[in-house]
Amino acid sequence: MTAIAALRGFEVLDSRGSPTLEVEVELADGAIGSAIVPSGASVGSAEAVELRDGDADRFLGKGVRKAIRHVHNEIQQSVVGENSLNQRDVDTLLLEIDGTKDKSKLGSNATLGVSLAFARAHANSKRVPLYSHISDLCENADMRMPVPMMNVLNGGAHANNRIDLQEFMIVPAGMSDMASAVRCGAEVFQCLKRRLEEEGHSTAVGDEGGFAPNLESDREALHFLALAIEDARYQLGSDVVLALDCAATEFHTEDGYILRGSDQPLNGDAFINYLDDLAAMYPIVSIEDGLAEDDWDSWRSLTDRLGSKMQLVGDDIFVTNPRFLQKGIDCGIANSILIKVNQIGTLTETLDVIALAKSAGYRTVISHRSGDTEDTFIADLAVGTGAGQIKTGSLCRSERTSKYNRLVRIEAEAAGLSGYRGLREIF
Ligand code: PGA
Ligand code: ZN
Repeated sequence: MTAIAALRGFEVLDSRGSPTLEVEVELADGAIGSAIVPSGASVGSAEAVELRDGDADRFLGKGVRKAIRHVHNEIQQSVVGENSLNQRDVDTLLLEIDGTKDKSKLGSNATLGVSLAFARAHANSKRVPLYSHISDLCENADMRMPVPMMNVLNGGAHANNRIDLQEFMIVPAGMSDMASAVRCGAEVFQCLKRRLEEEGHSTAVGDEGGFAPNLESDREALHFLALAIEDARYQLGSDVVLALDCAATEFHTEDGYILRGSDQPLNGDAFINYLDDLAAMYPIVSIEDGLAEDDWDSWRSLTDRLGSKMQLVGDDIFVTNPRFLQKGIDCGIANSILIKVNQIGTLTETLDVIALAKSAGYRTVISHRSGDTEDTFIADLAVGTGAGQIKTGSLCRSERTSKYNRLVRIEAEAAGLSGYRGLREIF
């Protein structure tokens, strides 16, 4: 029997120094769980709506007191007093009280905060680790370590340079376990820093902890990654492979894809050629948001052309929403989905979309947001669901490393966890 005794909301800060919501759930048996909600910058237009106060006198309009009021009022009134609640009951109640398609009434930050905090409280009440509680919730018998995609170099909306693509990621797919994968990522990251310094580039880090040097092109960015991997004495293509998040919606206009190094906008086919050329030069095993969220026809061509040789991840196009994912499956678009809990706004819906992806043979990548916090929920989510992959930024900044650290600890303590599968998780 799980009954909720109280909900408490707090306005705390995320990694960008913007306010966000922390929710604490207290169960009738005394167990407590809390969760802090993350926040994106390159936000898909169909994401669930994050409620902000809009009061210019506080936090430049970004306060979350309205979301806190929803937690303390409508949500608390409807959940407290219910005798036996499981995760699906709580999340269904949240959907009912909200009543909108995009959670704009309560705010996805209010619903997600309550949903994740309840999961933690319930795990604490059962006295099991969060990842194993999550594996129970989704009836997953195959808990395993995810392969990380580590974002170490940035362009696009996450930087102020001439690099078009948003994220250049290293994937330590050839390592034998999580601890070695984290070590490998950290060594490459430090070698990249040294290389950039030697060539006179800035080594200041961006929101996700990656460098944002003033390089001339995407190709030069890939070149620096290759050098850093070699400097760290790993083999590019076997120990470490590469992945991209183009976040192409950000540079797509009515005229086409606008690259900073080219005077003509590229149409969908020409941009696919561009990506194909990059993949011919470097061992790129995964491309996320290779095209814009509303360019479904080109997404189809991208999948036809590159889908048999690499992972194509849908982030903005699917927004962790079963409706969009189902449309993608029906149309033969992408072969993998990025999972961001705050894009959809409850844990149950997140688990449902992961189940849908798995049933259609799509791979799943659990993801942080560019505005994140010390909360490590997604590390447990990746293990508990057996998602296979995680994307949680660079090898610095505590809101990023906290997830890696949590995974290393889970690997050391978890019984019944199957090992690190490397490249087999991706392609
Ligand atoms: P966001 O970036 O959190 O700013 O949306 C991450 C991504 O695009 O994957
Ligand atoms: Zn993305």
